Amino acid sequence: MKLACITGASSGIGREFARQLSNQGYDLILVARSKDKLEQIAKKCRTRAEVIAADLSKEEACREIAERMKERELTLFINNAGFGNIGLFESCDLDRDLEMIDVNVRAVHILTHEILEQMKARNKGTILNTASVAGLMPGGPLMATYYATKAYVVSITNAIAAELKESGSLVRIAALCPGPVDTDFNDVAGVQFSLPGISARNCVMTALKELKKGRIIIVPGLIVKAGSVLAKLLPRALVMRVLMKGQNKKIEG
Ligand SMILES: NC(=O)c1ccc[n+]([C@@H]2O[C@H](COP(=O)([O-])OP(=O)(O)OC[C@H]3O[C@@H](n4cnc5c(N)ncnc54)[C@H](OP(=O)(O)O)[C@@H]3O)[C@@H](O)[C@H]2O)c1
Repeated sequence: MKLACITGASSGIGREFARQLSNQGYDLILVARSKDKLEQIAKKCRTRAEVIAADLSKEEACREIAERMKERELTLFINNAGFGNIGLFESCDLDRDLEMIDVNVRAVHILTHEILEQMKARNKGTILNTASVAGLMPGGPLMATYYATKAYVVSITNAIAAELKESGSLVRIAALCPGPVDTDFNDVAGVQFSLPGISARNCVMTALKELKKGRIIIVPGLIVKAGSVLAKLLPRALVMRVLMKGQNKKIEG
């Protein structure tokens, strides 16, 4: 039996992970705040799908989910819940920024820590963290907090992957780093994409295919992949100017 737990499964990329993994025969545990949406998605799944309504900005909720996973033999755990915002760093609402850090960083940290321990004890299982191509950039002017949260996710994923390899563990970890994907992300962040987005379907298909190949950093789409390589080669000031221009376009719509 294959079992996957997906956070942020009520919409966008997480909902698509649920659909494709169910089609591949995975039983599912779906996590997000919107219980009704999760139940609708669970009904459409071909396999067994359980719903956990939880607010991952709360440490207690994250610890409780990790505790519940102890009884389950997870094949795959996907840390996917997350959101962004836009604006000058000091103009962004501080409480909203802190909530973003709670969901995009603290929840991912707690759940990765606890689920990894459980998987290592069985010497099997995979964790996939939905980061972003933002996490591969030197910084994100006008989306400073969001880019920083995703850089954190990329950084711990790379480090844990190296530790797992060194110890000869069969447990795996990877980070999904998409560019724009057509989901509710924009509405939540209050932005328009400056580049056309790929579909959640494409994004998830690539993620699952590359995960099977053992890729640690997964960047769907050729243009975005090329952009992530260029960003490492070009001078930082130039990359920042290009990113700033892109974010300004998002604000202007
Ligand atoms: N779309 C893009 O262009 C893009 C690009 C790169 C990376 N990403 C990343 O992909 C992931 C999924 O985003 P998406 O594009 O699919 O956006 P989305 O459609 O807005 O989905 C976000 C998901 O996160 C959940 N979530 C948000 N806050 C939560 C909280 N406090 N507790 C529990 N769940 C919470 C939402 O569920 P509830 O509201 O029901 O709680 C929803 O299921 C995010 O980590 C995002 O940063 C997106």
